[in-house]
Amino acid sequence: MKIVLLGAPGSGKGTHAQRLTKELNIPQISTGDIFRKNLKEETPLGLQVKEIMAKGQLVPDAITVAIVKDRLAQDDCANGYILDGFPRSLVQAEELDKFEDVQFAVNIDVDKQAVIDRLSGRRFCPDCNGTYHVSTLNGQDKCPNCGGTLITRQDDSEQTVRDRLDVYEKTTMPLIDYYARQGKLVNVDGNGTIEEVYNRVLRAIGK
Ligand code: AP5
Ligand code: MG
Ligand code: ZN
Repeated sequence: MKIVLLGAPGSGKGTHAQRLTKELNIPQISTGDIFRKNLKEETPLGLQVKEIMAKGQLVPDAITVAIVKDRLAQDDCANGYILDGFPRSLVQAEELDKFEDVQFAVNIDVDKQAVIDRLSGRRFCPDCNGTYHVSTLNGQDKCPNCGGTLITRQDDSEQTVRDRLDVYEKTTMPLIDYYARQGKLVNVDGNGTIEEVYNRVLRAIGK
């Protein structure tokens, strides 16, 4: 099953992708996680995207598309994948269509204020990409999955969250219509508990 997860920053793409990957046994491909890994390891790509990510802007399409194309060519993607955070511009979606045929674009729709609340309390594990929220960690600062030290993502500051939301509205939201025109769009109400939203996502993809 080839799935694209669409949705604003903080809508829950990563949270649900991590569950889907276990349940469907297909990889989660998060361009944000790939860029963060390169940042952490200070690779040439990491240095190139550092400033862009800190400002909440998009990494140039050509770079992003090349990375995804390469990743999707790997063996573990043969039976499908969950694209988390890609595509997020019309150019990226058109390029993806040249080499892949996705089945579903799941759009997770969440109120703007909920997104701001979620991101301001998010904690991230750089070791396993686990994503949590302070409200469920009971003061713990270690990753419940792997024991790594949890951090606050650099781009989760209030101003950068607002800038990311602007970029989302201008550049990524048009993809909702793009996939609707292809008959691939499924809308999911992203408000409610993680469990509730996850069950809606499963239903949306016929599981
Ligand atoms: P990326 O890492 O993709 O960030 P994003 O799209 O801004 O999305 P987030 O990861 O912030 O949110 P999410 O939807 O995954 O929510 P999460 O599950 O974590 O991209 C980062 C940057 O990389 C971009 O700004 C850009 O610079 C670059 N980039 C990446 N892809 C690119 C591309 N294709 N092209 C160009 N540049 C690219 O949930 C958020 C929080 O809410 C968590 O704390 C979670 O526990 C909590 N939560 C989730 N669901 C619920 C719920 N139902 N109720 C309560 N809390 C919830
Ligand atoms: Mg994410
Ligand atoms: Zn971890």
